[in-house]
Amino acid sequence: MTELARAFDNVADAYDAARPRYPDGMYDALSEISGVTLADARVVDVGAGTGILTRGLQSRGAQVVAIDPGAEMLTRLLSRADSERSERTAAALRADGNALPLRDAVADLVIYGQSWHWLDPVASIAEARRVLRPGGTIAGCWNFTDARRPGWLAEHEGRLAGECPGYWGQAREEWTVPPMATTFDLVEERWVPWTRMIDIEDFLLDLRSHSYMAVLPRETADELVGRRRAELAEVFPEGLLAVPMRTYLAVGR
Ligand SMILES: C[S@@+](CC[C@H](N)C(=O)[O-])C[C@H]1O[C@@H](n2cnc3c(N)ncnc32)[C@H](O)[C@@H]1O
Repeated sequence: MTELARAFDNVADAYDAARPRYPDGMYDALSEISGVTLADARVVDVGAGTGILTRGLQSRGAQVVAIDPGAEMLTRLLSRADSERSERTAAALRADGNALPLRDAVADLVIYGQSWHWLDPVASIAEARRVLRPGGTIAGCWNFTDARRPGWLAEHEGRLAGECPGYWGQAREEWTVPPMATTFDLVEERWVPWTRMIDIEDFLLDLRSHSYMAVLPRETADELVGRRRAELAEVFPEGLLAVPMRTYLAVGR
C-alpha cells in the first residue's frame, strides 16, 4: 500500500462522516453527456474510498465494483452497505487502480470520484479502456469548495495554504483541476454549482480528512483546527455554514 493510501486509511472515519456527497446535478450531467443510463449499468468505481460515489451510483440502480487499496476505507464502504441494508451491495476489491483485477470489456463506465489525480495518468486510463466494453465511458468527478470570490472561504483556504506544506487547492496560484481531460478522448467537461449546508464541527472534520492534513503530526493538526474553529465561530456565531461548492466532471472515452 502506498503512503498516500495509508494516510487516507488513518482518517477513514473523518472522511466517511464529513466529506460531501455529489449533487444530483452531477449524476444527471454524467448520464446526459455519456448517454449511460445508470440503472443497471455496470460501473467500476476506482479509488472508491468509503463509498460516497459508490452509494450515489447504486442508489440510481448501477451495479458497482468498488476498487481501493485502503483496507480501512473499504471497511467503511462495506459496513455502511450492511447497516443501510442496501439492496445492491457493491463488490469491493482491495486493489490498485493502475492494475485493475478485472477481465477485459466488462464495464459500461469506469469512474474516479476525487481519486484519479492519485493514480498514474497513463496506466490508469489504459486500464480503464481495457475493462470497458467498446464505446464505454470514462469519467472523473471532483467536489471543490468555490473560493473564487473574496470572503471567509477564500481567507480560510489562504490560511491553509500558508500553514500546510502539502496543501493543494485554489489558494495556490498554480492550482488547476486534475488534467484528466487531456488523457482521453474528451466528450465534455462540466461544472455543477451547489451549496453545502454544514455545521462548523463537521466542516472541521471534513478538513481533517484531506491528505494535506492527514500527513501532519496530530498535535499540529489539532492546533490548526483549533485556530480555524475560533475564526469560523466569529463569522458564523450560530454555527451553521453555507459553503459555496462546485463539482467538476470530465467525461470521455
Ligand atoms: C479522496 S479519496 C476518494 C474517495 C471516494 N471516491 C469519494 O468520492 O469520496 C481518494 C481514494 O483514492 C484511493 N487511491 C489512492 N491511490 C490509489 C490507487 N493507486 N488505486 C486506487 N485507488 C487509490 C485512496 O485510498 C482513497 O480512498
